[in-house]
Amino acid sequence: MTRMMSIAGAQPFIKLMQPPPSVSPGIQRRHTLPASEVRPLNTQDAISVFEIEREAFISASGECPLHLDEVRHFLTLCPELSMGWFEEGRLVAFIIGSLWDQDRLTTDALTLHKTHGSTVHIHVLAVHRTFRQQGKGPILMWRYLQYLRCLPNVRRAVLMCEDFLIPFYRKSGFKVLGRCAITVGSLTFTEMWYPISGHAYMRRNKFVFGCFLFIFVSFSVSKF
Ligand SMILES: CC(C)(COP(=O)(O)OP(=O)(O)OC[C@H]1O[C@@H](n2cnc3c(N)ncnc32)[C@H](O)[C@@H]1OP(=O)(O)O)[C@@H](O)C(=O)NCCC(=O)NCCS
Repeated sequence: MTRMMSIAGAQPFIKLMQPPPSVSPGIQRRHTLPASEVRPLNTQDAISVFEIEREAFISASGECPLHLDEVRHFLTLCPELSMGWFEEGRLVAFIIGSLWDQDRLTTDALTLHKTHGSTVHIHVLAVHRTFRQQGKGPILMWRYLQYLRCLPNVRRAVLMCEDFLIPFYRKSGFKVLGRCAITVGSLTFTEMWYPISGHAYMRRNKFVFGCFLFIFVSFSVSKF
């Protein structure tokens, strides 16, 4: 519970991606949707998520990483491990993750969220068809990985992908871990991982501790 609260508190990525246009208060319109926004997903976004998945995966292979009930499941259990990119209120790209507590992925990782795990299992990254080939996938992944650095107990991110996507994830800094034990029908996967090192949280705490130590030593020395 404490852990989940600490994660929920770390949401530095929730900000507009572009500054809002400067409009004088007199002519400001109400209910204007932000041109571009990145925020965690919630269960109300589940349908939009699944629509993108349906086009990206089901129409291609008949399978998809998360079915609608699983999307809702993870957005209920760990919304803070999801990230959606919205253009004028419309979902254009997203990532959904959950926590995992073993070195390698097993079939349990497809449905479980292990609250004490230190590994973020990235279930899916997908970009809406009309917004692909604009660099949005890599940008969203970069922001997500930066965000994970702010979560105190996260040590690495893992994902499973079909082999043709290995070069794509390599460009984002992922390394191959090996063959994945999970298969879906005739589909096989490679497991990849990304180290979440140099925690901003740890660095901040070390800095605060260092300041206290400095003050304490200075005070002790001044007494002699
Ligand atoms: C894969 C996906 C997330 C890429 O996002 P995107 O925003 O369209 O990425 P871009 O096309 O702008 O490509 C960025 C880079 O990745 C490379 N890339 C994109 N798709 C690739 C693919 N299928 N295989 C290999 N490289 C790929 C591009 O060549 C480009 O490289 P460059 O920067 O050297 O030019 C997106 O195409 C998508 O949603 N596909 C369907 C769902 C999917 O397969 N998701 C991943 C599995 S969970």
